[in-house]
Amino acid sequence: MDSLKQRLEELRQIIRRHDEWYYVHNRSEISDAEYDKIFRDLQDLEQQFPDLVSVDSPTQRVGGAPLPQFQKIQHEFPLLSLDSEMTEDSVRTFDERVRRELDQAHVDYSAEPKFDGLSIELTYDQGVFVRGATRGDGTIGEDVTHNLRTIRTLPLKLKEDTGFPSHLVVRGEVFIKLHDFHQLNQRLTEAGEDTFANPRNAASGALRQLDPQVTAKRSLTLTCYDFMNEGEEKPAVHFDAVSSLESWGLPIPLLRQHCPSIKEALDFHREMAEQRDSLPYEIDGVVIKVNRFEWQAQLGEKSRSPRWAIAYKFPARKELTTVRAIAVSVGRTGALTPIAMLDPVDIGGVTVSRASLHNMEEVARKDVRVGDTVKVERAGDVIPDIVERVEVAGEQRTDPFVPPDQCPVCQSHTIQEGPVLYCAGQTVCSAQLKGSLEHYVSKGAMNIDGLGKQTIAQFVDEGLVKDLADLYVLTKEQLLELEGFAEKSATQLVEGLEKSKQAALPRFLIGLGIRHVGTHTAKVLAQQYGSLGNIQKASKSELQAIHEIGPEIAASVESFFQEDRNLQVIQRMQDLGVHVEEIEVVAESSQKPFIGKSFVLTGTLEGMSREEAKEKIETLGGRVMSSVSKKTDYAVAGADAGSKLEKAQSLNVKVLNESEFRALLSENSPSPL
Ligand code: IVH
Repeated sequence: MDSLKQRLEELRQIIRRHDEWYYVHNRSEISDAEYDKIFRDLQDLEQQFPDLVSVDSPTQRVGGAPLPQFQKIQHEFPLLSLDSEMTEDSVRTFDERVRRELDQAHVDYSAEPKFDGLSIELTYDQGVFVRGATRGDGTIGEDVTHNLRTIRTLPLKLKEDTGFPSHLVVRGEVFIKLHDFHQLNQRLTEAGEDTFANPRNAASGALRQLDPQVTAKRSLTLTCYDFMNEGEEKPAVHFDAVSSLESWGLPIPLLRQHCPSIKEALDFHREMAEQRDSLPYEIDGVVIKVNRFEWQAQLGEKSRSPRWAIAYKFPARKELTTVRAIAVSVGRTGALTPIAMLDPVDIGGVTVSRASLHNMEEVARKDVRVGDTVKVERAGDVIPDIVERVEVAGEQRTDPFVPPDQCPVCQSHTIQEGPVLYCAGQTVCSAQLKGSLEHYVSKGAMNIDGLGKQTIAQFVDEGLVKDLADLYVLTKEQLLELEGFAEKSATQLVEGLEKSKQAALPRFLIGLGIRHVGTHTAKVLAQQYGSLGNIQKASKSELQAIHEIGPEIAASVESFFQEDRNLQVIQRMQDLGVHVEEIEVVAESSQKPFIGKSFVLTGTLEGMSREEAKEKIETLGGRVMSSVSKKTDYAVAGADAGSKLEKAQSLNVKVLNESEFRALLSENSPSPL
């Protein structure tokens, strides 16, 4: 009995510690799957021995402790958490219990994505947003009204005459879209500040800013999924209640479904799992709720969670594993990338056995060493990433990783440039050569079919190709002698290479693999100079004078074309028949037809986000302002445009609808690559 008590207390301690990390410090030391498992172990034990349940057990509470700096707010209704289920069987068991307890043969459900953000409570009095609070411990939360007011999707006033109740309490989730998350991290990197490990931490960090100005810059977004108070206006079922929220002007989940039985809810989960990676925000499962409020009340609640809803989670995408070795790979630019070789671990159905550590500085910063336990994350189609090292009590660590002073492929010496270590053996390093060839033939560059990674490796390893120009010396007969080539594939490749000899200038520039010259820069250079010859002659200061070309790019372009070996290869390519087409030079101002024009965006555009619209306008030289004035040139009005549209009309500002706006953009855009 004593050892059982001890075990229970141990589990509670572990959970409390992780709760504090997670809720108070926005960090987690273990994967969600591990946490859920410990929590379930505790729940199971307590269920078996109800006499041993203590009032302070984490299972008896609703969440973690609020931060001390914010005003505390007592929630009008407790913000419960949800029990998690991981398997279809356990969801079916939930449904069986529900139907048994309600004594119903058929029970319908409402299913919604489970947004991976922060739960909040919003209060509207007479249709005006008066208060917003974080969940806190479920009973007492933090007053974040000022921060919430900065969220563009949160209506400060509900739509007039839509029949909303005079007092309304709504629950929803605040989160950050992936695009905004990546932009935020980029800004933080540029400012030399720490980045966030995931969108949830970023949203949490933004919502808990004491200065709302900072929150405002972080592009938080919101969705509402629960109408909490009673009232005549409340429909009989959850699905319709959420529709009511929408009709009053609140943002609600786009992807939700009414499910006549549990089968449809399971189908919805499957669909969401498939769509997950292509959604613009993170979801970590599906929430399944008994639809009828009367039945919800009948089923009631446990201390921490309702008995009428569950979270059917997706398999976790972050797991813990051990670093077995740190290997170093060499890319086409000669950059040495440290790669952690891991004990294989299943992350959301994919076996992961290696993860990028990006560069030498990152290895040092994260202090990852062979033998360490690390948290590995797989996000969408991105290469697995090591989120952080996890300290294990009593572990004996190995020595810190030492960046190599020789290239592991060609043994040339290495040079450090900023955070990145490079191999100095540009022309002798076969890894760099393979990388540059792969880049030259890739879709974004010269787009030459039939030259995969393996074929290129074969060319290089057999000594057939020593630089880009050698590609144009290959003959069909030579190819036929190689493994994997037949008449048809050899002919196709030779024809593909022949066709590539008529090369568009931007594509050729991209293909050369000049450091910092990607699609956009290549296009700018091509439009500015018109021919390869002119670009070759351009000096650093001349290049830098071009809008959009900074000192780093300018230096890199100049030094590429100052290197004799590069010029020789280009000359040989030209001698072998490669003709880089010239294009008409456009003056900079004609690439920026919106210079001096100001735009105001209002309402929702269907086909593009506000951020995209802004980016397009700015790329063409225009500016996007937040309010309409006499000086505004265009007001772009999407669906549900509000007071800005009225103001624009009253000031006689030209108003464009979405298709007119698109037409204006395409009339003024430079021709595509
Ligand atoms: S309903 C009593 N619906 O998941 C029902 N919650 O682990 C309360 N969440 O703290 C919640 N998406 O922050 C509900 N569509 C959704 C949700 C959702 C995300 C979060 C919520 C809650 C957590 C439960």
